[in-house]
Amino acid sequence: MNTTNPPIPPAQPAPARAGDPAAAVSRNHPRDPRRVAAVAGLVSAWIALGPATAADAWKLPPEKAVLRPGAGRELVLGQCVACHSADYMTTQPPLDRAAWAASVEKMRSKYGAAIPTNVAPAIVDYLAAQYGPKAAAR
Ligand code: HEC
Repeated sequence: MNTTNPPIPPAQPAPARAGDPAAAVSRNHPRDPRRVAAVAGLVSAWIALGPATAADAWKLPPEKAVLRPGAGRELVLGQCVACHSADYMTTQPPLDRAAWAASVEKMRSKYGAAIPTNVAPAIVDYLAAQYGPKAAAR
């Protein structure tokens, strides 16, 4: 009677099966060479296209709005067109002095416009005179 068992074969790694979740994980691994090559390609394309795109992106449209002549116009040009076009003022419906004062105050308190307090009244005077109900009736 034979009492010895046949030798146990050495362990083999299981072959990868199609749809094996383990294989899918390794394909999406961040260090997978195909993935690294794809990311490197995107980065070099971005670097190649970057400067031209950036230059175009910051080209501002030409200013077309013209402020009406009047006392205080230079102050408004100095204080109000750094952030947006003058047509933000010229396209408003006729606003009275109180409404223009509120608008200027909103630019200061909400949007951070650094308009000196002693300059604000002259700006409001100009806007109310040139873009107020009386100017609209002219
Ligand atoms: C620090 C930047 C800045 C300055 C300086 C500035 N504004 Fe504005 N202004 C804004 C922003 C931001 C908006 C809102 C933009 C938007 O909605 O597209 C705005 C909008 C406006 C509007 C449209 C109505 C509204 O309330 O949104 C008017 C009118 C206006 N500004 C007038 C003025 C006047 C007058 C001055 C000068 C006294 C001035 N702005 C200075 C930032 C500024």
